Amino acid sequence: MDAHDWDERYRSRERLFSGNPNGVLVAEVADLPPGRALDLGCGEGADAIWLARRGWRVTGIDLSAVALERAAAAGADLADRLTWTRGDLAATAPEQGAFDLVSAQYLPLPKAPGDAALRGLLGAVAPGGTLLFAGHALNGLGHLRGEGVDPTAFYQPAEIARALDRDWFVEVDETRLRSAPAPAGTHHTHDTVLRARRLD
Ligand SMILES: C[S@@+](CC[C@H](N)C(=O)[O-])C[C@H]1O[C@@H](n2cnc3c(N)ncnc32)[C@H](O)[C@@H]1O
Repeated sequence: MDAHDWDERYRSRERLFSGNPNGVLVAEVADLPPGRALDLGCGEGADAIWLARRGWRVTGIDLSAVALERAAAAGADLADRLTWTRGDLAATAPEQGAFDLVSAQYLPLPKAPGDAALRGLLGAVAPGGTLLFAGHALNGLGHLRGEGVDPTAFYQPAEIARALDRDWFVEVDETRLRSAPAPAGTHHTHDTVLRARRLD
């Protein structure tokens, strides 16, 4: 899906997602001290807003201008801690070495030879910072094949874990039951989760 497709998907509903922060983010980040965070594929902004309420300064990046408008409206009371940026993470790397937390929740990042885009996302984590990457387990994505989409064409957290070098310490690399119901119209039951720390 390109930016136009995502905009259309967001426009198809008054609100596409629940407005609640993702369960994986809440479970994995609640104990981290606030700093600078980057939300990759931030959508309508619920995760970034939750982080900002906890004292983080957050940059949210997304392809969809429609989603970002909604995010900015929802987080208007925290505008001094939130920055919303339209960008294509498959094409342009975010600021490097700058973020204490880089979170990607269900970001469909297409695999590419050389992993340049993935390396750009990993490079955004500051030394000592945390990478949190969550996806839908492949067993809940079978319906995509019927829509002509190959779910294995996108990076899974476990594949990212295997791509990390000795500059990283993997803290969590697992598949777990979702803690909240799946978004309407989907069949997701399990999350795949990678949490890794970039060594100082
Ligand atoms: C499944 S949604 C998840 C949104 C949000 N993280 C959440 O959990 O509610 C995926 C989001 O990634 C965005 N996205 C997809 N490909 C992207 C890309 N190449 N660069 C930036 N954002 C992208 C979409 O616009 C969409 O908002």
